[in-house]
Amino acid sequence: MRSVGIDFGTTNSAIGVAEGGEVKLARFEHANGVADTFRSILYFHPDARDKLGRYEPVGGPRAIDRYLEADGRGRLIQSLKSYVADRGFQATSIFSRTHSLVDLLTLLLADIRARAEEQLGPLGSRIVVGRPVHFAHASAPEDEALAIERLRAAFANVGWTDVVFEHEPVAAAYYYEKQLTQDELVLIADFGGGTSDFTLIDVGPSRAKRADGGKSAILGTDGVGLAGDALDAKVLHHVVAPMLGLGSTYRAMFGRELEVPVWIYSKLRRWHHLSFLKTKKNLDLLEEIASQSDEPEKIRALLHILDNDLGYHLYRAIERAKVELSSKDETRFSFHDDPLEIEAKITRAEFDGWVAEETTAMAECVDRLLAKTGVPASSVDQVFMTGGTSFVPAVRRIFDERFGREKIRAGGEMISVATGLALRACEP
Ligand SMILES: Nc1ncnc2c1ncn2[C@@H]1O[C@H](COP(=O)(O)OP(=O)(O)OP(=O)(O)O)[C@@H](O)[C@H]1O
Ligand SMILES: [Mg+2]
Repeated sequence: MRSVGIDFGTTNSAIGVAEGGEVKLARFEHANGVADTFRSILYFHPDARDKLGRYEPVGGPRAIDRYLEADGRGRLIQSLKSYVADRGFQATSIFSRTHSLVDLLTLLLADIRARAEEQLGPLGSRIVVGRPVHFAHASAPEDEALAIERLRAAFANVGWTDVVFEHEPVAAAYYYEKQLTQDELVLIADFGGGTSDFTLIDVGPSRAKRADGGKSAILGTDGVGLAGDALDAKVLHHVVAPMLGLGSTYRAMFGRELEVPVWIYSKLRRWHHLSFLKTKKNLDLLEEIASQSDEPEKIRALLHILDNDLGYHLYRAIERAKVELSSKDETRFSFHDDPLEIEAKITRAEFDGWVAEETTAMAECVDRLLAKTGVPASSVDQVFMTGGTSFVPAVRRIFDERFGREKIRAGGEMISVATGLALRACEP
C-alpha cells in the first residue's frame, strides 16, 4: 500500500507519495515550464470530443494553455472547491450539456490522477485528502457534510474508494515538523484561495511517540471560508466595477433616473455567476442601459467583457495587481483588450482598507482559537504561515501584532499541505 496525499485546492492542487519519510510530489508541465502544482481549473474546448460526442476537458496548467491557444473560445471552470458546500450549485451547462458538480470534480481529479500516475506509478485506492476546517460558502453543518459527500463521490469515481480526510492546517503542521529537532507548540496558519485555516498543535520528535499516535497533539482547529478569492473580489468591487458602470446612472422609463443595478456587479465576482450574466435578457438590459446611460462607455466596456468571455483574463489582471501589492507599495491595475483599456493605480494602503473586513474576520478566528484552547499568545513558540495568501502583508500583520515578528516562520507556500498529507498517509 502506498502513502498518497492530495491537496485539492481552490486555486492550486498538489499530489505526492511518501516513502521512507520523504515525499515525492508529482510535477506538471505547461507552456512555460514545469511546476509542483496543478491549477485547479478545467477547460472545455468546443471542438474536443470523444467518439461518443462527449466533450473532453483538460485540467490544470494544460487547461490554461489550451484556453489561451483557443483565443477565448470554450469554457473555463475555476475555484470548483468553493462550490462543494454550496447547495445552490447542483449543475452547470456547458455547450448545452448539463454537468453536475460531482461530474466536474471527477473530470478534474481524473486528469490529476492520470498526470500524476505517469510519473509516480499506480496510486492505488487509498488516499489522504485535505479539507478546510470550514468550507467556503458553508452556512450550516449540513453544508459541510454535503461537501464531504460530494468529494467522496468524485474521488470514488476515479478509483480512490478509501479516502481519509485530514484538516489542511494539520497537514501543513506535518510538513513544518520535519525540520524540527525539538518539540514546539506551534500555530499553523494556512491562507489559500478559498479558505483560511488554523491549528494549534504540539509538534516535534515526541508527537509521533504519543500513545494515540499523535492525535492528542492537536489542541484545536478553526477556520474561515474566505481567503485570496475574497481579496480579489474586493479589488474587483473597488477598482474594476466602477469602471464598468457601478455607481453610474441611466434614464429609465418615465424619465426616472436610476443607478445601474448592483446585482450585475456581484455576479461578476464568481465565474459561475458570470456565466449567468451572459443571457440574452441580461445583455438586452445592458444594451438598453448603455443607450440611456450618463456614462455609456462604461456599460459598453462591461458588454465587451461579456461578449468576448474575458472573465478569466479580468480575474488574472486583478490577481496580478494583488500579488504585486505583496511586495510593492503601489501597482497599476491594467487590462487591455482592443478597444477596451482599463488602467488604475492602486496603493497598498487602499488595498489594506478594502480588505479590512476579511483580515478582521481572519484575526477574530485566530483569537477565537486561542480563547477556545485557553492558550495565551505568549505560550505559542512559533507561528508557521503558509499558502499563497500568506504573502499578503495585511495578513502577516495579524500575526506580527499578536505574536511578535521574531516568532513568525513561513515556507512551502504551495506544497506544504500536499507534502504533509502524504506524510499523514503513512499513519493509519
Ligand atoms: N505573492 C502573493 N501575494 C498575494 N496573494 C498571492 C500571492 N501568491 C499567491 N497568492 C494567492 O494565493 C491564492 C492561492 O493560494 P493556494 O495555492 O495556497 O490556495 P489553494 O490551496 O488552492 O486554496 P484553498 O487552500 O483555499 O483551497 C490565490 O488567491 C492567489 O492569488
Ligand atoms: Mg490550500
